Amino acid sequence: MAIVAVTSPLPGAGLDRLAGTHEVRRHPRGSPLSAAELAGFAAGADALITLLSDRVDASVFAACPGLKVVANVAVGVNNIDLEASRAAGVWVTNTPDVLTEATADFTMALLLAVTRRIVEGDRVVRAGAFTGWRPDYMLGAGLQGRVLGVVGLGRIGRAVARRALAFGMTVHAHDPTPTSDPGLPVTPFASLDDLLPTVDVLTLHTPLLPSTRRLIDARRLALLPRGAYLVNTSRGEVVDEAALVAALESGHLAGAALDVYEREPEVHPGLLDRPDVVLAPHLGSATLETRTAMADLAIDNVLAVLAGRRPPTPVVEPGVRE
Ligand code: DGY
Repeated sequence: MAIVAVTSPLPGAGLDRLAGTHEVRRHPRGSPLSAAELAGFAAGADALITLLSDRVDASVFAACPGLKVVANVAVGVNNIDLEASRAAGVWVTNTPDVLTEATADFTMALLLAVTRRIVEGDRVVRAGAFTGWRPDYMLGAGLQGRVLGVVGLGRIGRAVARRALAFGMTVHAHDPTPTSDPGLPVTPFASLDDLLPTVDVLTLHTPLLPSTRRLIDARRLALLPRGAYLVNTSRGEVVDEAALVAALESGHLAGAALDVYEREPEVHPGLLDRPDVVLAPHLGSATLETRTAMADLAIDNVLAVLAGRRPPTPVVEPGVRE
């Protein structure tokens, strides 16, 4: 019986599909697992189902000579050493598409929360500090006619752009790795530096790659107009968090809404007490339907590889370079 090692409990009943035909090994504590913990846990496994918080590096592949597939329950695969998986001849799969709409919805929720001061207002009401309606009280920024800058115009970036257009925003976009025509009335910018001065709100949707690590640093934050907002539902490492804190402290940025953190799950202390910052615990795809669909897709990928078939959503195919 093939062994499928699963680092964490998963929503839905997808793992039941393995019962009787595969041995399911569940980690007693669950993610996050360091590479050393993962190597020990996965030893002897044929398939590994991981979360974005598990580190899969060369030591894991070395400890699992029979491993055929690492199925990540995430669209991002920055937690996996893809070169090491290629060298080891192991498939890597992810969970695209099924999380696009939920993540785009959550991006809009953050965007609205920070521009309309929803979390700040909630705190005021709970503290008993709401003394009545006033015309000049807790004014935020409207979206109608404002410019949204989308960095990364893949599936999620496009889904956010569609929503922003429906809110009456103008969308400017920069895609570090341009793919197909987005088919939307979006103004493309070949250069990120040229895009930044034109936006009221910047939203990030790039994968974490060596080229996108700290893409939004102090220099680029300074290129945003004074009073702009930043929203990040991609990966925390795309933003230099210390530089973001400095841009907020100086008043250059009006606010930020973050779902992801540079040293996740740690959050820069300079963000914690700021009323102009909305912080979420990496909830972009967190609906029951979406997280169940992500788990099911990861299991489909495992079942396909173990049956000798091509998995539905491969990122690394053994023997094939990008
Ligand atoms: C992903 O899938 O990469 C998200 O960050 C979690 O849904």
